[in-house]
Amino acid sequence: MLNENMIEALNKQINEEFFSAYLYLSMSAYFDSIGLKGFANWMMVQYKEEVDHGMKFYNYLLSQGANIKLLPIAETPYKWNSPLNVYEETLKHEQHITKCINDLVDIAEESKDRATFNFLQWYVDEQIEEEENDREIIDKLKLVGDNKSGLFMLDKDLATRTYTPLNTNEEV
Ligand code: FEO
Repeated sequence: MLNENMIEALNKQINEEFFSAYLYLSMSAYFDSIGLKGFANWMMVQYKEEVDHGMKFYNYLLSQGANIKLLPIAETPYKWNSPLNVYEETLKHEQHITKCINDLVDIAEESKDRATFNFLQWYVDEQIEEEENDREIIDKLKLVGDNKSGLFMLDKDLATRTYTPLNTNEEV
């Protein structure tokens, strides 16, 4: 059984994850509009993964008999200056999500909620990977600089990313 504070915080996190999905969908559209289909694919996969992250919280709340409260999703930006600018914003956003997850872990710890504490460990690990992926692409984009053929090669590389659905019913 979850306490009210925890339920409210987890519902808010569903919203954070769906906002992330919305943000990456917008970034995918931006890349498509500038002809970088591989980057657009990478962001589309990211969008789908964020929906899974949101659904994992959703299913956890339901499994605990808690109410689901779906909050409004804020408008996202839709224009960026460059691919590098997009990934710098992506990393900044993921650092914000890492903080949200850490705050949830704190709430679980303070209320001695072992079930939620264990459940959140998946997200703690996932955030390490999320930030690492963004840093890797930022480094590559910095190496490429203004070199168009380097950018097209990176685009080809990002076109190979595929989506693997997450089992959002698994609690750990
Ligand atoms: Fe759901 Fe990208 O963190």
